[in-house]
Amino acid sequence: MNILITGGLGYIGSHTVIECISNNHNVIIVDNLYNSSIEVLHRLNKFLNKDIKFYRTDMQNIVDFEKVFIENKIDAVIHFAGYKAVGESVKKPLKYYDNNIGITINLLKLMEKYNVKKIIFSSSATVYKESEILPLTENMPLGVTNPYGRSKLIIEDILQDIAHADNEFKVVILRYFNPIGAHPCGMFGEENNGIPNNLMPYIVKVAKGELEYLRVFGDDYNTKDGTGVRDYIHVVDLAAAHIKAIKAFDFESNVNIYNIGTGKGYSVLEIINNFEKATGIKIPYKVVERRGGDIGEYYADSQKAKKELNFETKYGILEMCTDAWNYEKGNN
Ligand code: NAD
Ligand code: UD1
Repeated sequence: MNILITGGLGYIGSHTVIECISNNHNVIIVDNLYNSSIEVLHRLNKFLNKDIKFYRTDMQNIVDFEKVFIENKIDAVIHFAGYKAVGESVKKPLKYYDNNIGITINLLKLMEKYNVKKIIFSSSATVYKESEILPLTENMPLGVTNPYGRSKLIIEDILQDIAHADNEFKVVILRYFNPIGAHPCGMFGEENNGIPNNLMPYIVKVAKGELEYLRVFGDDYNTKDGTGVRDYIHVVDLAAAHIKAIKAFDFESNVNIYNIGTGKGYSVLEIINNFEKATGIKIPYKVVERRGGDIGEYYADSQKAKKELNFETKYGILEMCTDAWNYEKGNN
C-alpha cells in the first residue's frame, strides 16, 4: 500500500515508518518539523537504505497540503501529527484545538476530495474516564480533563460521524497507553528539549546527571506501593500495532477501536527499580505531592487487539528501560 504518514518524523511516527517499510509498504511522510528534526529523515533513509518521499508541510495550510494528494496516489493514512503536551494544552487550549482538530479536518477534506477511504488515528488512553474497574476495555465510559484529551475525543467523534455517513470510509482508532523506550539500534527515540514532564524522559535525564533527582508524584494512591501505576509499552511494539491494524480495514464494521498496551501495570517505584536493574545506574528520588490531574492507576485490557488483530507485545520492561537509556546516552 501507499501510506501517507502524518507526523512521520516524530517519536511514534518514525518508528512506524520503519515498520511500514520493513513490511513492504510505500511511505510518504508529511511533517512540519514542529517537534522533530530533518535529521530523523536522514537516519531513516540511511537505516532503511531508501529515499523516502518527504514533504515539509504545515498541514494547517491546506493549499500546500493538497500537493501531497495531487502528487501521490494514497491508499491509506496513518495520522500521528498533532501537539501532545497536556500541561501546555491547559494553558493554551486554542492552540491545541486549532492545530489538532484543524489539521485533521484539512486531512479529511483532502481524503474526501481524492477518494482516500482508510485512516488509522493516534488516540490516547487519556480519553477514558477515571474508573475503579480495571483493566480498561474499549467500551468503558469516556471523559477527559484537559484540552489535549478533548481534542483526541473530538477527533474520534468526527471520524465516527464520517464513517456513519459513508459506509466505505474505514476508521481504525488506536488508543495508546504509555509509550516509552526507543529503537534498539539507538538511532531513533524521543526528543527531549527542556525539562521533561513524563516519567521515562525525566528518569533518563536524571541518569545522565542533567537533573538531580526524580520527583515521585505521590505515594499515597490506592496502588500496590502507593505510587502511580501505568501500562508502559515499548515504542517498537506500538509501531508494530499499526501494521496489524491495517487488517481492520477489511473488517465488516467500518469503525474499529483498540487499546494498544501490554495489559500490565507498573508503579513509579517499579519503573525506577527496573531502570536501575537494566542500566546499573542509580536513580535518586524524592516523594513529593501528587501532580494535579493525575489518576492513581490505569492499564489496558489488551485482549481485543490480540483477538482481532493478532497483536501481541514482544518487549518487556527491562528492554524499554535499556533502549530509552541507550538512545538518551547517544543523542539528546
Ligand atoms: P511527536 O510530537 O513526536 O510527533 C508528532 C509530529 O507531528 C511531530 O513530528 C510534529 O512536528 C508533527 N506535527 C505537529 N503539528 C503538525 C502540523 N500542523 N503539520 C505537520 N506536522 C505536524 O509525538 P508522538 O509522541 O510521536 O505522538 C504521535 C501521536 O500519538 C500524537 O497524535 C499524540 O497525541 C499521540 N499519542 C502520543 C502518546 C505519547 O505518549 N507519545 C500517547 C498517546 C497518544
Ligand atoms: C501522560 C499524559 C497523558 C498521555 C500519556 C501518554 C499527563 C498529565 N498525561 O500520562 O495524557 O496520554 O502521558 O504517555 O501528562 N511521574 C512521577 N514523576 C515524574 C513524572 C511522572 O512520579 O517526574 C508519575 C506520574 O504521576 C504517573 C506516572 O509517573 O503516575 C506516569 O506519568 P507520565 O509519564 O507523565 O504519564 P501519564 O501521566 O500516564
